[in-house]
Amino acid sequence: MTRKFDFLVIGSGIAGISFALKAAKYGKVALLCKTTLIDSNTSYAQGGIASVTYAPDTFEKHISDTLISGDGHCDLSVVEKVVHEAPSQIEELLNWGVAFDKNEKGLFDLHREGGHSEHRILHHKDNTGFEIQESLIRQVKTHPDIEVFEHYFAIEILTQHHCGQIVTHHTPNIECYGAYVLDLNSNNIHTFLAKITLLATGGIGSVYSTTTNPEIATGDGIAMVHRARGAIKDMEFVQFHPTALYHPGERPTFLITEAIRGYGAVLRTQDGKEFMHKYDERGSLAPRDIVARAIDNEMKMRGHDYVYLDVTRMDAKETKKHFPNIYKKCLELGIDITKDYIPVSPTQHYLCGGIVVDKNAKSSINRLYAAGECSCTGLHGANRLASNSLIEAIVYANAAVEDAAKRIDKLSFNDCIPDWNDEGTSLTEEMVLITQSFKEVEQIMSSYVGIVRSNLRLIRALHRLEILYRETENLFDKSVVSNEICELRNVISVAYLIIKQAIARKESRGLHYTVDYPERMKNEVRK
Ligand code: FAD
Ligand code: SIN
Repeated sequence: MTRKFDFLVIGSGIAGISFALKAAKYGKVALLCKTTLIDSNTSYAQGGIASVTYAPDTFEKHISDTLISGDGHCDLSVVEKVVHEAPSQIEELLNWGVAFDKNEKGLFDLHREGGHSEHRILHHKDNTGFEIQESLIRQVKTHPDIEVFEHYFAIEILTQHHCGQIVTHHTPNIECYGAYVLDLNSNNIHTFLAKITLLATGGIGSVYSTTTNPEIATGDGIAMVHRARGAIKDMEFVQFHPTALYHPGERPTFLITEAIRGYGAVLRTQDGKEFMHKYDERGSLAPRDIVARAIDNEMKMRGHDYVYLDVTRMDAKETKKHFPNIYKKCLELGIDITKDYIPVSPTQHYLCGGIVVDKNAKSSINRLYAAGECSCTGLHGANRLASNSLIEAIVYANAAVEDAAKRIDKLSFNDCIPDWNDEGTSLTEEMVLITQSFKEVEQIMSSYVGIVRSNLRLIRALHRLEILYRETENLFDKSVVSNEICELRNVISVAYLIIKQAIARKESRGLHYTVDYPERMKNEVRK
């Protein structure tokens, strides 16, 4: 079956929904998600959303903090754009009903996180993302020009390749005409034709064995663009959150927000000693890459699986008020955070790289935009500043709409696309091979492509992954298409891109630290 929409939006987190709500002014929108609307990384966000709100904070300070965190790899003009446009996008969220916490004076209660020189994080208790996601869903559900498709899995974006043309990395003007989508409710594959397509497919946590990301984070958008010969970069900059709750077996790993360190919590080794000042004068509030590496080092030196986060010295009533969900979650595990230290360890959390986009959120493929975690705008550089992700997603979704609105009337549908061809596929019983291969990818990435890297480990990871790649492509060619086999292909592509781009970077910078090149290439000193 073929369906036609002016705008096809793949992904229903903050990037996808905010785009859909604005694009609907200019045409009919299809909003797809592979599970349910609520199931996104956005829903899990705890700390909040960064934006300059009151003095003494200034745009210059937010810009400077972002650049320092990004370790010399940010695009200054992008940082300026996001920081300057943030307040107006916060207004949009407020208009859509997002309730950020206020203090007794009626002013926004601003939190502070690692790498921020001021209190500038707007938040809703310690579950800001859920508040945002719910508010956006309320808007989208009642919108007459947005059709929502839950349990619709995008398999492949459509380009000239699907009209029989040979497309290579050198093909000029590759264009996107929509996507093949598997309807998981009926198991039919539909052709969604669109004048404009937005990828907002989120993160890649499923590539690692421990992650704060929900299961949907399999890097589908990045893998689809890679297969379509689009540009992907900065994949080596995988962010590990320093303080995920140490609770083996739980997936996703529960996050202990960085805002708790901004509030006063400190890190301690298992014998109760503070250690962060040995690594950085900003102590527990140093940028995330530095804190994660310091914890990793302390754990390795001592042979420990976790360190402690200590918030016991703060006022118990205030702690419960600011962090009610963390308090509740830990209490369920027998940890009263107002009295007990919290066991934490670093865990995969975010990807700074992704689909290369310009300042209008346009990818290297014509008619294809990308926003949110699947994209690489240049904002985060080599290490994202905490709480800069949600704001980047909404600023770039807005930029995409503004650009697309100018051209939508001049675009038409491309009717050359044939229906999905599943000739020659018959295998349906290889589920166990798929789950096993998934685990192998996670193990390869967690063992060899973690916080501290080396040439030897990266090459070993590449060799092991190549075997899985060949086996999986073979399986895919013979199998009746399913979301599971597609996701496996996608995580293998994403893992491949991370390893290849990590091997190519002959220096240590931000989140990419390798023992073979421990210095920055130009030997700059990190401020
Ligand atoms: P997501 O919100 O992840 O949405 C992805 C969407 O894509 C989903 O709807 C999914 O179904 C859909 N999708 C994916 N693949 C397909 C496919 N093949 N077909 C159809 N649909 C598909 N950032 C901050 O700025 N502040 C924070 O405090 C913060 N805290 C965080 C806490 C946690 C625990 C986590 C995991 C992340 C946190 N982040 C935070 C990061 C931030 O939440 C994410 O980067 C951001 O929400 C990503 O939004 P998104 O719209 O790009 O994607
Ligand atoms: C957190 O709350 O610590 C997560 C913030 C982020 O990832 O931006």
